[in-house]
Amino acid sequence: MKTRQDFEALDTADKLRALKKQFVLPPGVIYLDGNSLGAMPAATAERTRQVVEDEWGVGLIRSWNDANWIDLPARIGDKIARLVGAGKGEVIVADSTSLNLYKVMSAALEQVKAQSPDSQRRLIVSERENFPTDLYIAQSLAQQHGFTLKLIDSSDELPAVLDEQLAVLMLTQVNYRSGRVLDMQAITAQAHAAGVLVVWDLSHSAGAIPVDLLAANADFAVGCGYKYLNGGPGAPAFVWVNPRHADKCSQPLSGWLGHSAPFAFTTDYQPAPGIKRYICGTPSVISMAALECGVDTLLAAEPLGGMAALRQKSLDLTNAFITLVDERLAAEFGVRVASPRDPALRGSQVSLALAEEMDGDAYAAVQALIARGVIGDYRAGKPNLLRFGFTPLYLGFAEVWDAVEHLVQVLRGKEYLQPRFQKQGAVT
Ligand SMILES: Cc1ncc(COP(=O)(O)O)c(C=O)c1O
Repeated sequence: MKTRQDFEALDTADKLRALKKQFVLPPGVIYLDGNSLGAMPAATAERTRQVVEDEWGVGLIRSWNDANWIDLPARIGDKIARLVGAGKGEVIVADSTSLNLYKVMSAALEQVKAQSPDSQRRLIVSERENFPTDLYIAQSLAQQHGFTLKLIDSSDELPAVLDEQLAVLMLTQVNYRSGRVLDMQAITAQAHAAGVLVVWDLSHSAGAIPVDLLAANADFAVGCGYKYLNGGPGAPAFVWVNPRHADKCSQPLSGWLGHSAPFAFTTDYQPAPGIKRYICGTPSVISMAALECGVDTLLAAEPLGGMAALRQKSLDLTNAFITLVDERLAAEFGVRVASPRDPALRGSQVSLALAEEMDGDAYAAVQALIARGVIGDYRAGKPNLLRFGFTPLYLGFAEVWDAVEHLVQVLRGKEYLQPRFQKQGAVT
């Protein structure tokens, strides 16, 4: 069995270790929730101050041109494109993931209807365990467009549903509960062979695992700015449409900044060419400035091997965590790993389930850990999960060791039974 010294040695040998300096993290905190809200980059406070005090305060409305505010959605989109295998000019930053999903799902459904007005293709398929916002958006769109949403229990069922009734497959590449990764390239190819369009939610993949949208020949993708992209709470999201569809599909939120000539102020909507039509209204400049700082923390890894190097470290971290859980928590407390053990099938998170008779204590166990400075989160379900994100940009191996040690203490001392840990906040 490895010791803490072994983990410290891994930190010393870690070539990505210097990237941690890019972040402000409170002392004494082991932050294992970057999959939910990324840590704050050190550059963000100064950059947002500059935007507020200098660009807004002094530049006033001139800053739309002088400080290039108007270019933010495309400029940050181009940076995100480097992380998800998209081309320049193919990604735009706008709105939230839910809204962008609404836009691309509508575009996909419209395309199917236009191409085959009389066809049988009136089904949307997704996974029951997909993130709820994806399912809610699809439910609403199915109703509006006269489609039916069918939910499958596992991706193993995919081959059976890829038929002439299916219009759009809507999948999240990395599952928010288990962290399981779907094979984007293989699934997209199978779907296309059956004449089916695929919409990918990259919320837990962008900045977490290497993604290659163009190599996969994917159709549409959206993703979150506040998780692994470190854009800050409620950061704007991104959207990508394969250039082969981009000029063909329209999206329903036809706002003025998605117009081909917004400052012509014409009466009729004429969509901008390509991805720019996915902009609806005015960009949230301060939030975008913060998001850019977050995306830059990932691009800073490019000279050190980029997403491939980050992925390797992420797997080393999650493998180390799983080994320690097996060694120290499985036999004594019945803790189970609820994420795939095969590294190829695992994103940058590991979820744990407590022994069956302790399932109801999962929330309190997470609170007890947080009180010790180990911040993960809790996801209700069957089973309830303790969820831990491992962000290689700012997490070290000794912290993995310490996090497990804290969990051992929480369980051994039954700290989760303390009443202060039972009270549930509005956000878990
Ligand atoms: C897969 C997935 N999609 C979307 C979202 C959130 O979307 P929004 O930013 O619109 O709230 C989340 C949030 O956790 C998510 O996990």
